[in-house]
Amino acid sequence: MLASRNNCQDLRVVRMTPLGGGEGAPPLFELVLSPPGWDFRPGQFVMIRPPEWGLDLVWGRPLSIADVREDGLRLLVQAIGRGTRRLSELRPGQVVTVWGPLGNSFAVEPDKPTLLLAGGIGIAPFVGYARRHPKPENVTLLFGHRLPAESYPLADFGGLRKAEAVREQNPEQLARFIDHLGQTMRGYAHGGLVLACGPEPFLRTVRKLALTLKARAQLSLENRMACGVGACLGCVARNGKDQLVQTCTHGPVFWAEDVFLSEDAAPLGGKP
Ligand SMILES: Cc1cc2nc3c(=O)[nH]c(=O)nc-3n(C[C@H](O)[C@H](O)[C@H](O)COP(=O)(O)OP(=O)(O)OC[C@H]3O[C@@H](n4cnc5c(N)ncnc54)[C@H](O)[C@@H]3O)c2cc1C
Ligand code: FES
Repeated sequence: MLASRNNCQDLRVVRMTPLGGGEGAPPLFELVLSPPGWDFRPGQFVMIRPPEWGLDLVWGRPLSIADVREDGLRLLVQAIGRGTRRLSELRPGQVVTVWGPLGNSFAVEPDKPTLLLAGGIGIAPFVGYARRHPKPENVTLLFGHRLPAESYPLADFGGLRKAEAVREQNPEQLARFIDHLGQTMRGYAHGGLVLACGPEPFLRTVRKLALTLKARAQLSLENRMACGVGACLGCVARNGKDQLVQTCTHGPVFWAEDVFLSEDAAPLGGKP
């Protein structure tokens, strides 16, 4: 077992692999960084910032640790804004400053039927989770996505009991996916474990279902972050007692009943 580090290191880009995208859709890519000697617990993240950003982009960007393998630290990135687009332009040999592993992690309960619910790039932390789970035969993945399935590393989930990817390209498909999500979660309501990562409307839907079904569920929040280490208050969320908590240090993983997600914004599918 490697020693767990929680520090700042300069890592070198080993590989940048475009994974796909689509017309007008933000492209996805895999970034592999070396040296690979990182221990992590799935759900944890790193902050990443190439020194060449200078004063142009001051803050690093948070990314889930997808996995650590022989060749390096693996990150899956969706290029949605300035920072992630600039990360997509990195080339092998370039250096990036990375600090982490940061935050807490998903529960691992080997003997419990475990359902991984991923929305879009929210699949990233589940790559390592699925690969490291002591009993993958107890783990199922349900993955909702808009880009073509080939854009995602679905082969990494081959050892699980079941891995199902559902593409939602229009409101009808999305509504069917939400129904399916509810049906599937029902099977985990008694004695199971549900883990979810994805955009906030997706998490809001999962949280509501979890509270209704009394399912034990954890949600990984992808709040905006600046420092990643509890210093800037840029990532606050509300916990179940309506207190402010920092997502970077108290999370990013919270039990569904212990975190408040704004009900003002529309849930996935537009209906409560
Ligand atoms: C703990 C954690 C883990 C994450 N893991 C991953 C990952 O594995 N892969 C990945 O691609 N992304 C991940 N994200 C989201 C990623 O950090 C944001 O996409 C990124 O910060 C956006 O930076 P940008 O400069 O490209 O976009 P900006 O120019 O800052 O913003 C562009 C658009 O992105 C939206 N945005 C900004 N920050 C976030 C955010 N944190 N979440 C969602 N939308 C955002 C903005 O509202 C805006 O519409 C994670 C975020 C957190 C907090
Ligand atoms: S990102 Fe700075 S306190 Fe959380």
